[in-house]
Amino acid sequence: MDVSSIKSAYKRYARHYDRFLGPIFNPGRKLAVQIANPEPEQRILEVGVGTGLSLPYYRQDAQVVGIDISTDMLDIARQRADDEGLQQVEDLLEMDAEDLRFDDNTFDCVVAMYVASVVPNPDRLIAEMRRVCRPGGDILIINHFASRNPVLRGLERGLRPLSKLLGFRPDMDLDVLPDTADFPQLEVRPTNLGGYWKLVHYRNGDPDSATAAAPVDASAEPAQAAAR
Ligand SMILES: C[S@@+](CC[C@H](N)C(=O)[O-])C[C@H]1O[C@@H](n2cnc3c(N)ncnc32)[C@H](O)[C@@H]1O
Repeated sequence: MDVSSIKSAYKRYARHYDRFLGPIFNPGRKLAVQIANPEPEQRILEVGVGTGLSLPYYRQDAQVVGIDISTDMLDIARQRADDEGLQQVEDLLEMDAEDLRFDDNTFDCVVAMYVASVVPNPDRLIAEMRRVCRPGGDILIINHFASRNPVLRGLERGLRPLSKLLGFRPDMDLDVLPDTADFPQLEVRPTNLGGYWKLVHYRNGDPDSATAAAPVDASAEPAQAAAR
């Protein structure tokens, strides 16, 4: 994957994106926002905000900044924010998720939905999400990870050579995401189509604050044990 193939893929997708990837990805979007935005007046960064399908789910008193590398996807997000009068949307900016133009510790929470297998360097994405998130803030990633089912895994591997055309890597392993003592995965929760996609929940900074994380009432999605 490289930035120019990502931009061309999402230029092609933009007009049809909501129709094809709106409903199927919506349970994950709702779950992520529910975890990301439980409190009043949180400042939240959504990386790879796309056409802004998640924006209406944030609380109206939130301050949400969305960034994306695709002008075509962002144009639709801006139109949505205007049409729906989404006062929680502070800004929608064209920016590379791997090189965020924000100061350290700017946001209470940073979210990336269906983006980790699209960006060229997921490790740069995560490093930037951590940098701009305040210590103790939540970091949430939703993505599809390589299947355990051998048939599906074979299919995903078969599609790998088409990654540039598709605009994502179909067989990215969950192991690509960090799970370390200082940045542990608090939870991996299944979402969308019986768990084909998963939400990975981190808390930034001090591991002590991670163990003190409050459980979330995920009524939008049946809470299940970590699906690793
Ligand atoms: C599958 S779409 C997901 C969009 C949205 N999060 C959603 O829930 O529908 C992936 C998005 O990531 C964006 N993207 C890919 N690489 C990026 C990068 N390096 N920086 C910022 N955005 C990027 C794409 O332009 C696209 O809008």
